[in-house]
Amino acid sequence: MKYNFDKIIDRKHTSCIKWDIPLEGGMPNDVLPMWVADMDFETVPEVKERLLEVAAHGIYGYTGRDDAYYQAVCDWFASRFSWKIEKNWIVSTTGVVLALAAAVRAFTKEGDAVLIQQPVYYPFSNVVTRNNRKLVVSQLKECSAHYEMDFVDLETKIQEHQVKMMILCNPHNPIGRVWTREELERLAEICSKYQVQIVADEIHCDFIRPGFTHVPFATLQHPWSKQAVVCTAPSKTFNLAGLQASNIIIPDEAIRRAYTTELNAMASFGAGLFGIEACKTAYQTGAEWVDELNAYIDGNYQYLKAYLEEYLPKVKAAELQGTYLLWLDFRAYGFSDKELSQKMLQEAKIWLDDGTMFGAGGSGFMRVNIAAPRVYIERAAGQLRKTFE
Ligand SMILES: Cc1ncc(COP(=O)(O)O)c(C=O)c1O
Repeated sequence: MKYNFDKIIDRKHTSCIKWDIPLEGGMPNDVLPMWVADMDFETVPEVKERLLEVAAHGIYGYTGRDDAYYQAVCDWFASRFSWKIEKNWIVSTTGVVLALAAAVRAFTKEGDAVLIQQPVYYPFSNVVTRNNRKLVVSQLKECSAHYEMDFVDLETKIQEHQVKMMILCNPHNPIGRVWTREELERLAEICSKYQVQIVADEIHCDFIRPGFTHVPFATLQHPWSKQAVVCTAPSKTFNLAGLQASNIIIPDEAIRRAYTTELNAMASFGAGLFGIEACKTAYQTGAEWVDELNAYIDGNYQYLKAYLEEYLPKVKAAELQGTYLLWLDFRAYGFSDKELSQKMLQEAKIWLDDGTMFGAGGSGFMRVNIAAPRVYIERAAGQLRKTFE
């Protein structure tokens, strides 16, 4: 391996929410944080060098995106996913959650219904309810090793509530599915039938395990896919979340206009200097780094899965197809959610995200972030064993 993902970097007292909130919140000093979705790895060396150069310049004025920025985004998606994006389809925002909220405001009005598939990343419901839209949930179906969309329930709910927009998560956080082309085509067909605007959050698209393929929603055969708003960002992929740079890809001109009208009303014009430079450099230089990163995360997953199977067979891990977030089922223990959470924090001394945060279907589950040096995964595994064996 060219890159060293085993390297430990102390993140305490850097204002990072993952490591510093537990300290400020009075949690045990030695609690291992494996909750929020950022990684404990240093970013691509070229990105760090570029940011040091930018910092050395000493003037940090208003900054725009040059042609090389747009080219870097287009080249990344063309080479990784055979998705040919045109430069003018790219709309920049300071984050994907903000982009989702803007979509809710652009494509629906107060009281309209917006559908999400729970369990799902919790801000999905927030952007709906906090904008006074009606939240409609279609729960994912638990199958033996993984989850599936419940198309019958989805269509019924769309009809029943006259759903205007759906937020899709692909790959899906927290249950780790990479939706197949067939599933997405079927979804496009249903949404087209009822004219439901699809907003696809594809922020985790670069984390795909061997044997799975990410299909960008806008590359489907179905014509409705060309009406989609696809949210992308280098933030998860290259560990740049603090720089707040996202690229929202909107192929359709009228949809794009409606969307940018909303962003303009909010005076939201995208990332600043450091975010722009980091995004451009990451997409220009980071391909090999991402490949090695995926191999490393796969190793973490294999390790933890084998450990659980051997020592904690009552804990079931959903098959990880994409993302670096593993969905663990503790229901066999029969704990209440409060007991489980307390045990995890106070006895195992690991901070995970409680399953209940992700809505329907989350009770009895926990989400663990495995994008960290292997020693952390080994430590967590040992602490889990001591508490739950
Ligand atoms: C599915 C999904 N969307 C969006 C985000 C956050 O995006 P941003 O930080 O760009 O708002 C996350 C972070 O965990 C996520 O998992």
